Amino acid sequence: MIHFNPETQTFNLILQRSYYAMQVDAAGRLIHLGWGARPRHANPDDRISGQTSHRHYETKASFETQRLPLEIVPFGDVVTFQETLKVNFPSLPRDTAVGESLHLPIRDLRLRYARHDIADDAQPGLSPTHGLPVKNNSPRQTLRIHLQDPVQPFAVILCYRLTPEHDIIERWCELENNGLEPVQIEVCHFATLHLPAGTNELTAVTGSWAQEFMARRQRLHQGSFVLESRTLQTGHHANPIFMLNRPEQAGEESGSVYFGQLAYSGSWRLVFEQLPQGDVRVHGGYNPFDFELKLAPGERHITPALVQGFSDSGWGGASRQMHAFARERVLPHSPAGPRFRPVLYNSWEATYFDLNYENQVALARRAAALGVELFCVDDGWFGERRSDRAGLGDWVVSEALFPQGLEQLVQEVHRLGMKFGLWVEPEMVNPDSDLYRQHPDWVLHFPGRERTEARHQLILDYGRTEVVEHIFTVLDNLVERYAISFFKWDMNRNVTEPGSVAGKAIWYKHVAGVYSVMDRLRQKHPGLDIQSCSGGGGRVDLGMLGRADQVWVSDNTDAFDRLHIQEGFSLAYPARCMEAWVTHEHNHITRRAIPLSTRFAVAMRGVLGIGSSLHELAEAELAEYATYLRFYKQIRPIIQEGDLYRLQRLEEFGGSAIEYMLPDGREAVYSLVVEKYQVDSFHPVIPLKGLMPAAMYTVSDHHGLELYRLSGYELMTLGIPKETQWYPGFCQTWHIKAAI
Ligand code: DGJ
Repeated sequence: MIHFNPETQTFNLILQRSYYAMQVDAAGRLIHLGWGARPRHANPDDRISGQTSHRHYETKASFETQRLPLEIVPFGDVVTFQETLKVNFPSLPRDTAVGESLHLPIRDLRLRYARHDIADDAQPGLSPTHGLPVKNNSPRQTLRIHLQDPVQPFAVILCYRLTPEHDIIERWCELENNGLEPVQIEVCHFATLHLPAGTNELTAVTGSWAQEFMARRQRLHQGSFVLESRTLQTGHHANPIFMLNRPEQAGEESGSVYFGQLAYSGSWRLVFEQLPQGDVRVHGGYNPFDFELKLAPGERHITPALVQGFSDSGWGGASRQMHAFARERVLPHSPAGPRFRPVLYNSWEATYFDLNYENQVALARRAAALGVELFCVDDGWFGERRSDRAGLGDWVVSEALFPQGLEQLVQEVHRLGMKFGLWVEPEMVNPDSDLYRQHPDWVLHFPGRERTEARHQLILDYGRTEVVEHIFTVLDNLVERYAISFFKWDMNRNVTEPGSVAGKAIWYKHVAGVYSVMDRLRQKHPGLDIQSCSGGGGRVDLGMLGRADQVWVSDNTDAFDRLHIQEGFSLAYPARCMEAWVTHEHNHITRRAIPLSTRFAVAMRGVLGIGSSLHELAEAELAEYATYLRFYKQIRPIIQEGDLYRLQRLEEFGGSAIEYMLPDGREAVYSLVVEKYQVDSFHPVIPLKGLMPAAMYTVSDHHGLELYRLSGYELMTLGIPKETQWYPGFCQTWHIKAAI
């Protein structure tokens, strides 16, 4: 609910368990009043009056004005601390001439309240345009507060879209140049968040290739701490998500936690700022590094969203809110698509660049026999792509590999009852390719400079409309011709020379170009699913989840490493979009040998996929695979749609226990995987969550064997009975079901 008191000029945003309040002060500035838990038993019409707010900050003699918690911090009103927005004006408007020579540009923006309205259908910038529904399409209210510079013809509309059921507010800005000359935006965050002073324990994820999403907790100190991407994609080194709480006052299931995410897949920045007096702010948006945003006269720019939320149930509660938000409000739910994410087979680790019709068909037959539902041919099927040195950009089926055309394989995959998927990397080109030979100017580069290759490839210039158009046409033709149901959309290098016909705007245009191709493809082919991949987990964020059904989280498929990667991923993203493969016994990256049960236990925590060399496996092992697949299909509604409880985190005892639970408490999945265990050390008690205390539950394993029959009360107090000696790799994946 959005409420405005015209007398006190106070805004109250009331969500399910949280509030957000701000007020227009006598000078017309929009001041943040507070954000946090609503007192228990509060009525919907209990509100903050704002009568006593902030007057103490202001005297002409003090510097306190710089500290004012402005909802948007414009460089002009404030210069001492981090700004939300910095704008360069080329002149003064004619009617405000001051009779002195001007020092230009005028880097001074002041924003004053003009009016507000409430919209039912407002959308942040770069929202999906594919037209596919989300699971919950009910309208949401957006408060739009119009702020105007008193001198310059420049306006900012601050937008607050409420999802009360998840205590989430999406924030973005609409910038309007209403003058006669272009203005240049130098810094543009989507929003600034003000947190209560001392909320300075930060949980975030950082990492690199093959170790994405490493969860880290740290204390912020006075000054600024920055997480960012300086690449064209979301990046491996950090992901734009965070949680903040007062030190040691939050736990997995308790305490007040503030959280946020950016819905943008390009060069982003999050600045965590602690002022000398302990005020904590978070600024999130475009990375000002090599940034440019020019607004022509009359032009408007709508930024993507910074999603903010509040949980009174610790980090676990914050994660569940983000998961539900992504599942219900972000991920596309095509009526033509499957209800649950299908079990996929991907041939990458089985055949790498040695693929051909015969080996793919052999894999497809084995995969189908196991119960796989979607067969995806990975890199190497096109042009001269027999290694990573050539062919990228030439999206034409290789006749040498598929003499009868790809149709033959597609038909066989369909005959076997599976859908067909194809790997593509549509933002790239190998210099050794027909595309590059025809259009050497279509890549990012600076004239007269070397074009630095990475993985022997260059990046196409999505600043050129003809490039974006070409890519759309090529992919569209592939979908039409081969009845493709699934693209694995990869992106395997970072940018080195960001030179584009679009100038510095390339950082934004690249993202907009990728989104537009995905949106157009999905609009035209509602049955097409997309998996986002970027050398593993380099492109995961809410902007991408608006057009991708699932994401590849890491190239590292070692089950033990994956426990850490998946736990970090689970802080913000739901299992429904987390593709996870079972691969070879000896992992190709880490060389570690891991039992099949452990590999399945970890992969079944997300959207199960298989990447093993099925043609090398004995019948007995294939039969084990098939048993797991049958079991996974039984439990996947709970995993893909249920609430996640991280019962024991890795940091606590060298293993991970999680539970997925359907909201009605009737069914759950319990998953324990032990990573490190010293003989005869302690076994933690792991009580379950969310069950009905009085109900009896059966606890069954992947063979459907009933192991226990216990009450919800017992399972939620003593947990699963501890019988066995643990060891590294020990695992249990159990289906818990109300017996009535
Ligand atoms: C990187 C991806 O993450 C892998 O899964 C695979 O698709 C390769 N690219 C193919 O080049």
